Amino acid sequence: MGYSFVPLKLKAEVIRMKKACRMTSEILRALELVIKPGITTESIDHHCRRLLKKNNAEAGLLGYKGFPSTICISVNHVAAHGVPNDYVLQDGDIVTLDLTVGIDGWYGDSAVTLEVGTITAEKKKLIKAAREATDAGIKAARAGVRMGDIGEAINSSAEKNGYKILQNFIGHGIGQDIHEEPAVLHCGETGTGRPIVPGMVFTIEPILTPGSDEVETLNDGWSVVTKDRMPCAQFEHTIAIFGDHTEILTK
Ligand code: MF3
Ligand code: CO
Ligand code: CO
Repeated sequence: MGYSFVPLKLKAEVIRMKKACRMTSEILRALELVIKPGITTESIDHHCRRLLKKNNAEAGLLGYKGFPSTICISVNHVAAHGVPNDYVLQDGDIVTLDLTVGIDGWYGDSAVTLEVGTITAEKKKLIKAAREATDAGIKAARAGVRMGDIGEAINSSAEKNGYKILQNFIGHGIGQDIHEEPAVLHCGETGTGRPIVPGMVFTIEPILTPGSDEVETLNDGWSVVTKDRMPCAQFEHTIAIFGDHTEILTK
């Protein structure tokens, strides 16, 4: 069985992608500063829209498959694809901001989970484990190994900390399209899967939860929530594979 085509990037193209990737992380950092109890998630979307406009950057998610906002905002048990609305952030919430930015036709994609006011020790532990799982995946991602090596590193990191990964959410290649090949599973077996080669640019974005990994979609048609309403945390980075090193583009 062959693997599907991956649009590999030239070094010069990765350099162009860096603009979008850096803008993605800059805007996320700016939005982090406005997160506090009492603000609505749609006001975060408005901030995001303003920052994109100010920087002449494209909102990659707006209109993507019909998505209605510039950013996915997923609170507590919302695992992914949360639509900004009139929900008012509460002290103790955790909130995932997932942003995709386009510049000069190239995209960057990154997500972070943030604390709202004072959160429980359990939620702190979940966020820490989510960051660790993504970092473990990035560390494993290099030319010469296989996708299964990344998946295994991510999954075993999460399991070691006592969490499950929502396996129907995967990382993805990214470039002139938001979602490209290759698929990046957040589980796997070392030594198996597609070989990782220089020129691949893809995301790593495991979603961790302390309970069951079963999810359902709310009737806004977008928000995916855990069935047991346990909270989720997620960190996403866009990374580039070179022959001799791997670079995090969304730093
Ligand atoms: N940024 C998300 C990802 O990491 C994509 C969200 S797609 C949307 O792949 F349609 F929900 F916006
Ligand atoms: Co994303
Ligand atoms: Co992504």
